[in-house]
Amino acid sequence: MLSAKDLSVRYVTPARTVDAVKSISLEVQPGERFGVIGESGSGKSSLLRALLGLEEIAGGTVTFEGQNTHGAPRALRKRLQPVFQDVGAALNPRMKIRDALAEPFMIHDVPVDDAKLSALLSTVQLGVDALARFPRELSVGQRQRINLARALALEPSLLMLDEPVSALDVSVQAQVINLLLELAEKRKLALFVISHDLDVMAHLTERLAVMFAGRFVEVGPTKDILSAPKHPYTKLLVESRARAVESKSAELAKEGCAFAPRCPDAKPECRAAVPPLTGSNHSSACVVHPGA
Ligand SMILES: Nc1ncnc2c1ncn2[C@@H]1O[C@H](COP(=O)(O)OP(=O)(O)OP(=O)(O)O)[C@@H](O)[C@H]1O
Ligand SMILES: [Mg+2]
Repeated sequence: MLSAKDLSVRYVTPARTVDAVKSISLEVQPGERFGVIGESGSGKSSLLRALLGLEEIAGGTVTFEGQNTHGAPRALRKRLQPVFQDVGAALNPRMKIRDALAEPFMIHDVPVDDAKLSALLSTVQLGVDALARFPRELSVGQRQRINLARALALEPSLLMLDEPVSALDVSVQAQVINLLLELAEKRKLALFVISHDLDVMAHLTERLAVMFAGRFVEVGPTKDILSAPKHPYTKLLVESRARAVESKSAELAKEGCAFAPRCPDAKPECRAAVPPLTGSNHSSACVVHPGA
């Protein structure tokens, strides 16, 4: 359904060049809940934007339902919907919820009426009374539901979620996670989720990729990664539980495996070349702990 091959994103500023995404390949199947976990600055948002066709890519290709996402027709946009992290900024404060929900229909020239809008609200478990409200009159959790409702308006087959619950209190997080699981199940909706939170990923995803310094270092079934991590970085992540461990960029190796300077198992060959992902079902980019 969504497929990326050797995808790279590079930012060039007068001060420096950042290779935020380095030759990432991935596949998301119809109805699959796929997650990418990584610490701040590992390149998650850059990857998500590149997949959506919102970021210029330095190399590689992205296809969604067989079509290239860069320079994609509007029809494709309906089927591939982003939900961004900043719950507040996503909604125009001067727009009533009715208009905010009607907007995606209008953009795609799809007729809309109150019946459609209230049906949409009920899919995110909100009542029709929300239609007459302004965003500031809703809680953060309710606003995130409105964001979801907007993304669901045109019946996408894949939602692309950037830290969908990190702005929410833990109790509200659980409600939104359960709502997403229910939607995925009922609508056969695929989810592509990025987060730095392992607990969120444990609940929300079936398959997980661990991103470190712009690359996937481990990919596999979420439960296998949590119970038997292979890559030493993933082990550190799982042991420290829930929160991704932050690293200083000074600690990243320039050559070979970026994690080698912090790795308890590093061998001289780890510094020589970037280890490729090996294995098929549960893959790992480590010469000492290869995939299977
Ligand atoms: N527009 C930009 N111009 C220059 N550098 C950028 C830009 N956007 C991101 N970067 C850099 O690219 C790297 C990856 O950033 P990105 O936002 O993709 O990471 P992230 O994993 O989403 O982090 P976070 O968890 O904090 O959201 C970082 O080093 C960041 O500073
Ligand atoms: Mg980000």
